[in-house]
Amino acid sequence: MRTLKVALLGCGVVGSDVARYLAAHEADLTARIGARVELAGVAVRRADLPRPGIPSHLVTTDADALVTRGDIDVAIEVIGGVDRPYDLITKVFAHGASVVSANKALIATEGAALHAAARDSGVDLFYEAAVAGAVPLLRPLRESLAGDRVTRVLGIVNGTTNFILDRMDTAGWEYPRALKEAMALGYAEADPTADVEGHDAAAKAAILAGLAFNTRVRLDQVHREGITDITAADMAAARSVGRVVKLLAVCDRAPDGDITVRVHPAMLPAGHPLASVRDAFNAVFVEADASGQLMFYGPGAGGAPTAASVLGDLVAACRNRLAGVTGSGDSAYERRRVRPIGDVVTRYHITLDVTDRPGVVGAVVAVLERHGVSVEDFRQTRADGGARLFLSTQRATDRALSAAVAELRDLTQVRDVPRTIRAEAL
Ligand code: HSE
Repeated sequence: MRTLKVALLGCGVVGSDVARYLAAHEADLTARIGARVELAGVAVRRADLPRPGIPSHLVTTDADALVTRGDIDVAIEVIGGVDRPYDLITKVFAHGASVVSANKALIATEGAALHAAARDSGVDLFYEAAVAGAVPLLRPLRESLAGDRVTRVLGIVNGTTNFILDRMDTAGWEYPRALKEAMALGYAEADPTADVEGHDAAAKAAILAGLAFNTRVRLDQVHREGITDITAADMAAARSVGRVVKLLAVCDRAPDGDITVRVHPAMLPAGHPLASVRDAFNAVFVEADASGQLMFYGPGAGGAPTAASVLGDLVAACRNRLAGVTGSGDSAYERRRVRPIGDVVTRYHITLDVTDRPGVVGAVVAVLERHGVSVEDFRQTRADGGARLFLSTQRATDRALSAAVAELRDLTQVRDVPRTIRAEAL
């Protein structure tokens, strides 16, 4: 029986679980691939750390030497970052080996170049683990749905922010307390910026939109807003109108073929399947012409779940190698226009603090209508010598909505507009 050699680049949380399950599932992997898989080397930054279960002679700090030694069949990249893995992966391809990566930032920024390099070398580049951890999502989009036409991908693709918003919603905590808890439980990093400012979700949205709509989406084309200024009061206000606030990745294809890709907090109806996604779980809702609505759900992070996704890709890459073929690449055969956020048609939920005088509501509604924005729903509570208004709008362009809100801020009767938040799936 043939033996395929695997180089593991990185041995942190995910890498060590990849090595663990490679050993624990060895018999099944061998049977499923039709060849043995041998861990040929593990590239690490620090050789002096204990690495239980990994023979020390396999550990090296010289990743370049490992990927260029000439007998590697598949390299697994779980290092993170962009420049270093890009450099290593191009070397892997140049030496005729396939790559499995879990690196969303790398794929979102350099995916086109890496796919081209893989194609030129006749090898595979797979990265199921880069989006939503263990949840099978990229392969379904790329393969299972290849006969359909996807029109929308709506997802919770960042577990850390979902955990934080969930705690704010269910326990009434403010953001700092929920973030602290997310850090204590190991969801949020010491520097949580990538998660809480939406960078992580934006990279995933770029990858999802590219695969769903067969086009290239650059990271700078993804509109991004984070969750750091969401308050417990916003969550309570949403709840009072039967909605929940989630950080969503929204990828839409318009009938003319243009697409929009955005990441921002948004209200969802409490009855929407994504509204009940709790803790640090991920879930992605896909709408397609023929299939209708599909939902993918599961753990989006963590060593073992991410390792499971990596190993699934490894099996596919090994099978292809044995058969002398490659699997589907990025399939970006369209050149779709990514619309700017101003052109996106959405709904707003607006909270305003106003003076409590007759005519204020009329003045607010008049401003909105002047910008072509209709009010769908309206509620008022007394607050601090004035009144607090909650308005839900009908669909309008984001440009019209934000221009209307800017003008509302200038109305003498309006003291503050503490929150505007988009509403989805209504
Ligand atoms: N930090 C990410 C999350 C997991 O919280 O979902 C890795 O993509």
